[in-house]
Amino acid sequence: MVAARITVNGKETPISPAAPHTTVLDFLRERGLTGTKEGCAEGECGACSVLVARPGVHRPTDWVAVNACLVPVAALDGQEVVTSEGLATVDASGTPAVLHPVQEEMAVRGGSQCGYCTPGFICSMASEYYRPDRCANAGPADGPGDSDGTNGSDGSDGSDGSDGSEHGPNGFDLHALSGNLCRCTGYRPIRDAAFAVGMPAEDDPLARRREQSAPPPVATRYTQDDSAFLRPGTLADAVRLLRERPEAVVVAGSTDWGVEVNIRSRRAGCVVAVDRLPELRTLHTGSDHIEIGAAQTLTEIERRLDGAVPLLAELFPQFASRLIRNSATLGGNLGTGSPIGDSPPVLLALEATLVLADADGEREVPLSDYFTGYRQSVRRPGELIRAVRVPLPLSPVTAFHKIAKRRFDDISSVAVAFALDIEDGTVRKARIGLGGVAATPVRALATEAALEGLPWTAQTAEAAARVLRTEGTPMDDHRASAGYRSAMLGQSLLKLYARTTEAVSS
Ligand code: FES
Ligand code: FES
Repeated sequence: MVAARITVNGKETPISPAAPHTTVLDFLRERGLTGTKEGCAEGECGACSVLVARPGVHRPTDWVAVNACLVPVAALDGQEVVTSEGLATVDASGTPAVLHPVQEEMAVRGGSQCGYCTPGFICSMASEYYRPDRCANAGPADGPGDSDGTNGSDGSDGSDGSDGSEHGPNGFDLHALSGNLCRCTGYRPIRDAAFAVGMPAEDDPLARRREQSAPPPVATRYTQDDSAFLRPGTLADAVRLLRERPEAVVVAGSTDWGVEVNIRSRRAGCVVAVDRLPELRTLHTGSDHIEIGAAQTLTEIERRLDGAVPLLAELFPQFASRLIRNSATLGGNLGTGSPIGDSPPVLLALEATLVLADADGEREVPLSDYFTGYRQSVRRPGELIRAVRVPLPLSPVTAFHKIAKRRFDDISSVAVAFALDIEDGTVRKARIGLGGVAATPVRALATEAALEGLPWTAQTAEAAARVLRTEGTPMDDHRASAGYRSAMLGQSLLKLYARTTEAVSS
């Protein structure tokens, strides 16, 4: 097996002697690439954002921004990373000679004051800059130095974002920056910079890199002393390994692993990465279900499904930040078994099933039977979540309500997902998934029964909302009181009713 190595800003670097629990952030900084900053060390500030070359959704390669503080460097064995230092064009002495267009716009529009957050913003912005489907009608870059503000709209129609729009005239989606915090500039100049960037020039090396395949995953066996980071090449190898090492920590996007390492100082003896296993990377639509590989990232699912499952499309923008969604997977969100994970309520309402795999084969388990207690499930030691199946046809009336203190990038106080079949004014089927009201995500079975077979009227909705307020056993904690959580459940159903009847009457 070839020694583990990573390509950073075009230069191949051995990963050794870094310990297997070393994050990409620490690895880069220890090698002098201190543009990548540590803020929170738990995936919430984006100061550590870097670009990774990944298999693309619309082109062979996408430049994907990830939180370097959360990813073990060994997970990037054989992969390509670009940091803020690698974006500018450098002269023969290595000094930046020409700023990257994103850096240029941030500089001239006053998007940086103390500068601590800036390299992270730059990398997240660069990822969006290179998103192939960003803007069908944006013109080529006007070139650096376009500091007079003429590169975008004049703003008179609000298309520069002056109306609070989340998309710029250049197609820039501000949600690309939802995982980046700035404590001193204020966000308007940063938004101005984002909405001013043009399209990559033809000879832009990172734009051209998108046309070649991303680095393939490599089987990795990176060990030191008593700890190991292992990346099996196939599902068969992975489940064999997990049978031998049932105590191993399984990681995909590592968004939980990074927090455990950085904040709780956990050091797993053995980490097994499954995020690049081809068997976990499926996404296809059959006659009676859609199968989503457990290791597809949330961003990949969002872009590949492109709204085909409206309830999932409603979930994704509310699931953490773009930086997290670029790494996090459905398998990880279900595997951790958190009662406040955002995907389980939605998948419960969709009546999803999980395909679990181990060395003996596969079995399919309804998600409603999967959770057995606080962070407990029917998944056996050595068993992996291979895929999530969403049965077809989909219920036509759906909604996901996440109640949290912040609109984006927050943990829910309570979450509710609805999927209703309403025919001729009668509720034929109701599926409701809840998060944050019990030790596990749960179905609101009593409320479902209170809806099914009844006319979809204000009276039915109000009666069912009263039942919904009694579902689960919500707690008082620092996020919300039990009473507030119950009240929000009921309000969610009334809001859904109001929305559906508004749609009918308009
Ligand atoms: Fe804050 Fe990584 S340091 S997200
Ligand atoms: Fe200071 Fe953003 S410029 S934190």
